[in-house]
Amino acid sequence: MTEAADPTGPPALREMRWWDIEPVLELEKELFPEDAWSRGMFWSDLAHARGPEATRRYLVAVETRSDGERIVGYAGLAAAGDLADVQTIAVAPGHWGTGLGGRLLTELLRAATAFECAEVMLECRIDNVRAQKLYERFGFEAIGFRRGYYQPGNVDALVMRLTDPSTSVPTPVQGTQETENNG
Ligand SMILES: CC(C)(COP(=O)(O)OP(=O)(O)OC[C@H]1O[C@@H](n2cnc3c(N)ncnc32)[C@H](O)[C@@H]1OP(=O)(O)O)[C@@H](O)C(=O)NCCC(=O)NCCS
Repeated sequence: MTEAADPTGPPALREMRWWDIEPVLELEKELFPEDAWSRGMFWSDLAHARGPEATRRYLVAVETRSDGERIVGYAGLAAAGDLADVQTIAVAPGHWGTGLGGRLLTELLRAATAFECAEVMLECRIDNVRAQKLYERFGFEAIGFRRGYYQPGNVDALVMRLTDPSTSVPTPVQGTQETENNG
């Protein structure tokens, strides 16, 4: 493989469409090797992401390079009544710690607000401290466990909840100005 060309700026967020599924699956397999979502799971969720009856919101983060576009992150949210669930959130390892996870989560919480959800729930592997810190920064609180939720491996899930996503303001990251999240 040739060296990747330089990106022309920070990744842009846009709605995920069906033609993004294949590149998203590649990242999915890399980031969740034990319990990656299948192609069908993404198709099924995207089928509920458009139109007046939509209950899903999926996004991709796209980096533009001189040799084309590359998906470097994605996230999805499902709404059911006044409860929303973070279905997935992932960032390519080369972009960790740049605020991209926070930008994706901000958009999911905007979507939860647009769906008029009063609460947002998620499950997170008990050993995924990095993700938990991200969620805590946005006001999520641990409310319980699901024993053996992740199979294979029998890993427990931490269940986290955010009440009133419309008021969530992430704790600022020291030494940075996250102005682009607040527009
Ligand atoms: C969890 C995950 C989505 C976080 O994505 P990310 O892009 O690294 O998230 P952010 O950059 O917004 O935040 C991560 C850290 O970077 C810091 N950060 C955020 N913005 C920053 C910026 N502009 N400059 C420097 N650091 C920044 C944050 O404070 C945070 O640090 P902390 O953990 O010490 O609080 C990513 O690690 C990932 O995809 N992991 C694998 C898949 C996964 O586990 N998904 C979650 C399943 S529950």
